[in-house]
This record gives sequence, C-alpha cells and structure tokens, in this order.
Amino acid sequence: MPPIEILKDIHWVGAIDWNIRDFHGYSVDRGTTYNAFLLMDDKITLFDTVKKGFKGDLLENIRKIIDPTKIDYVVVNHVEMDHSSLVPEITELVQPEKIFCSEMGKKNLLAHFHTENWPYEVVKTGDSISLGKRTVQFIETRMLHWPDSMFSYIPGDGLLISSDAFGQHLATTERFDDEVDLSLLLGHAAKYYANIILPYSNLVQKLLAQVKEIDLKVDMIAPDHGLIWRKNPGKILECYDEWSQQRSKFKALVIYDTMWHSTEMMAQAIMEGLVEEGVSARSFDLAVSHRSDIITEVLDAGALIIGSSTLNNGMLPRMADLLHYMRGLRPANKIGAAFGSYGWSGEAVKMINTIMEEMKFRVLDPGTRVQYVPTQDDLKKCVDLGRKVARTLKEQV
Ligand code: FEO
Repeated sequence: MPPIEILKDIHWVGAIDWNIRDFHGYSVDRGTTYNAFLLMDDKITLFDTVKKGFKGDLLENIRKIIDPTKIDYVVVNHVEMDHSSLVPEITELVQPEKIFCSEMGKKNLLAHFHTENWPYEVVKTGDSISLGKRTVQFIETRMLHWPDSMFSYIPGDGLLISSDAFGQHLATTERFDDEVDLSLLLGHAAKYYANIILPYSNLVQKLLAQVKEIDLKVDMIAPDHGLIWRKNPGKILECYDEWSQQRSKFKALVIYDTMWHSTEMMAQAIMEGLVEEGVSARSFDLAVSHRSDIITEVLDAGALIIGSSTLNNGMLPRMADLLHYMRGLRPANKIGAAFGSYGWSGEAVKMINTIMEEMKFRVLDPGTRVQYVPTQDDLKKCVDLGRKVARTLKEQV
C-alpha cells in the first residue's frame, strides 16, 4: 500500500495487516493497519513505527518520499509492540537526532529494548517543539491505554495523531472515514472501544473535558489503527463521549453455554420474556460467538442474563473465559441475572452471580436453576425472569 499525503507534507507511511485475526484475544476479523506518519519539514519527523514484520512496507513507503536516513526526529506515542517493535531497527538505520516520548514512554522503551544510549527527549503535556514551519504539541494520555501513551497535535492543521485512541481494527485500501461506509466504520470503532478502551472510560471523560477546556481545534484525527477521521472527526469524539459514559440502552443480552440443550431451552424462554416486554434483545450461544463480539454488544446493553450448565462443580469453560475477559474490561451500570441447568450439584449459577457482583452488576435474584431438563413450569419461570429483567431495566433507562 503506497504512502498517502493526508495533509500537505504529512504522509501516511504505515502498513496494512490483512491477515491478522487475533489481537490478544480480540477477534480482528477484518485485519488491521499499523499507521505511521512522516512529516516533511526542516526537521523531518516520523510519528510511530509499525509492527515487526512490516519493516519493508514502512521503509518502502518512506523511501518513496525521502531517504529514511534523512529523518531527524522519531516520535514514539506508544510503546506497545505493534507500534514500537521496529523502533530499534529504525533507530539503528536513521540515527535520529532525537526520540520524543513521554516520561513513561522512556521508561517503557528501556524496559522493552534495554537501550540507554538512544537520544531520548522526554516531553510532557503542554510541551511543544518546532519542526520548522510546523510545531508539534504533546498531550500525555496515561492509561489510554498504556501508561506511556500520548498524542501528538499539529496546531496549524488541527491534526491529532492519537495513537491507539479513536482507532479501529479494520484493514482497507481506503485511508479516510469518508471513503468507507460510516456505519461499518463506527461498528469497528465501537468494537475497538469495547475491547480495548472500556476499562479506562473515566479517563476518556477527563480527556474529552480537557480537550474542551483548552478548546483544542480538531480537524483531523489520525489514529494508529484503521482509518483517519477526515470528514467528521467530531463524530468519533461524540461516540467516545457516549461510550465512555457507559449509559445503557433498553437492550438486554442473553449469553449462555449449554451442555445438552437444557440451558439453551432456558435461554430461549428468557428471550421470550424479554421480547414480550419490548426490550431490544440479543441471544449469544458461546459455542458460536466470539468473546470480543459479545463485548461489543455489552457496551450499550443495560442487562446481561448469563447462563451456564454446571460441569464438574463449575461453569462451562467457555463461560469462564468470557466472564474472565469481561471482568477485566470493567463494564459498568448493568443489571445481571444468572441461569443454568445442572445434574446434582449446580454451582454454575452461584459462580456467575459472584462474578457479576464483583463487576458491580445489580444482580436481580439468586438465579434460576433447573435440574436436568426443564419442565413447562420451569420454562415459565424463565419467561418470568426475562420479563422481570426487562421491567427493571425499563425503570432504569
Ligand atoms: Fe495498538 Fe496499544 O497498541
């Protein structure tokens, strides 16, 4: 994929990863991109690098614009390996005059590459550097989503190079938001938010307040993954505001894993109760649903009704996987209820309740358990559970 001039003398020089499908547990079914940007000025500056394995793409793109050894500065906005694993090789080749990073960035670069002799230049929020005609301002964004993360802002152009924030895992030949279907793009941005940024939602709120307070003019947002927000950067800022408030919609999810279909029968009856009350409901069988797609739906769902059969005094393994993943992402403001079938001990429902309580869900009742195969009476209780959850949710949203 050749370089693209995103603004005069500022070029996308990244790489497209068409084939990646798993990003530390997140299903990236449409691949991703690693975005890097080259700014041509008196001081030629490279913002971020790409994942190891894509060195050829990065260098080929840079060479189409300039001899890479002419680069003066490298800015490391984020140390995670998908952006920094090539920093050692680029530094070796380019011999930059300075490597700009946050204080935590330096610490983390040292912890990754153990190189004391690089020309680190530590910057903090409010610092700016002149490149000649343009200046770059730095905004630290600690824990969005690593301690070292920061943004680079080019004031004259209103360009925010935003590292992981506002990104999407979406491989395309197009580079800008206005070149693809907006609903597809926002769907991938929501999935990215839910699976990566969600635990830091309170920091997103603080950051957005800070952007407002300093009246930062944002005309273009260039994240390190996916497409660049050129036409309507306000739209993704608005979405981040909404997602980070974790406001729930009148929407419920029934998520289950089943051994011999009894828990599945219960799930179907619960769905019936939800639908009767008019809630927007989605059902997920873990045998065919990926954890990261479920988490995307969790983002704006107000209620989660979670079911598992009991296996060996515990829940089914796929449910344990999902709940472990979900707990780390810290979804907030959810109503919860549990259900499941069992043979002789039936611990799964209690265990699900415990984890929901740890996640501070409002757990509605002790849960609905059925021994072996549900009777019509049992299924009626499940319908009632769905109705109860829907009615409670209606009062809350
Ligand atoms: Fe895209 Fe946190 O790395």
